[in-house]
Amino acid sequence: MERRRLGRTDMDVSALGFGGSEIGYEGVSQRIATRLLNAALDAGLNVIDTAECYADSETLIGRAVSGRRREFHLFTKVGHAAGWGRADWRPAAILKSIERSLGRLRTEAVDLVQLHSCSEGVLRRGDAIAALETARQRGLTRYIGYSGDGAAARCAVETGRFDTLQISVSIADQAAIDAVLPAARERAIGVIAKRPVANVAWRSRSRPPASAYHRAYWDRLRALDFAFLARPIDEAVATALRFTLSVPGVHTAIVGTSKPERWAENARRLKAGTLPASDFNAIRARWRERAAPDWTGQT
Ligand SMILES: NC(=O)c1ccc[n+]([C@@H]2O[C@H](COP(=O)([O-])OP(=O)(O)OC[C@H]3O[C@@H](n4cnc5c(N)ncnc54)[C@H](OP(=O)(O)O)[C@@H]3O)[C@@H](O)[C@H]2O)c1
Repeated sequence: MERRRLGRTDMDVSALGFGGSEIGYEGVSQRIATRLLNAALDAGLNVIDTAECYADSETLIGRAVSGRRREFHLFTKVGHAAGWGRADWRPAAILKSIERSLGRLRTEAVDLVQLHSCSEGVLRRGDAIAALETARQRGLTRYIGYSGDGAAARCAVETGRFDTLQISVSIADQAAIDAVLPAARERAIGVIAKRPVANVAWRSRSRPPASAYHRAYWDRLRALDFAFLARPIDEAVATALRFTLSVPGVHTAIVGTSKPERWAENARRLKAGTLPASDFNAIRARWRERAAPDWTGQT
């Protein structure tokens, strides 16, 4: 598995990481989570990303692999300790949430804590960032980052206070490529691509309901009409993932899954490396031609 230096941190991260939301939200059992994460570590994974609010994700991860803690970089997030939609950016709540995460993850420190998609206003106030800096000083985390999109992500980069940025980048979410990633590259910020295979939204034959998480990507992919999406699903996913990992400045792509065999399967597909320039440019050109002005980064 290819490894890339995560910006100015000391972490050499596997190009394919693991996104921990699905195991939490899908209610994956401990037995499956243990099998899935250990199989991925055996196959070369060294990045596990989770969050304070992904249901039992942190607990599942802690139980599954805390015995192998030195083999991977562990990232979590703060801001929604009481659940998504009940944000609390007060410094005391942030520090308490980090302590809770460490207990659930069964570790003394994580490698990265990220502000979980707070607004530009919260970033500008500065006290939430200061709380992360306090956590770093206290040795609870080695690095601090921002996870989010659009103008807030750009603002986070410009503060100069974050080591990393987690942001949506995929065939169906390309706005950040011109709007945010160049600034991140200039400042040597580590970039973690979230939703890197666009939730494989094209898998659904019919249009997902308005409340569905992947509905915007389903609509966009219909309009973008990439010919490669008609290929067998594993080939199409491979192209989508190789696209994300070909974007300049992206260091790791954290694919979410609830299937034990998936990580190794996706890793095998990545052996082909980055996309040939002609394929990459064609995907970019189609986006420029068809993307609507309101196709902003999806959180
Ligand atoms: N605001 C934030 O900070 C934020 C927001 C969203 C996401 N994230 C992070 O980003 C991670 C990834 O995002 P995500 O899980 O929403 O999106 P994603 O990685 O783009 O998509 C995950 C979906 O892709 C499917 N998939 C993966 N490989 C496949 C393959 N080879 N063939 C068919 N289907 C495949 C998985 O299904 P199977 O279960 O069938 O494998 C899963 O349903 C999250 O886990 C989380 O850590 C952060």
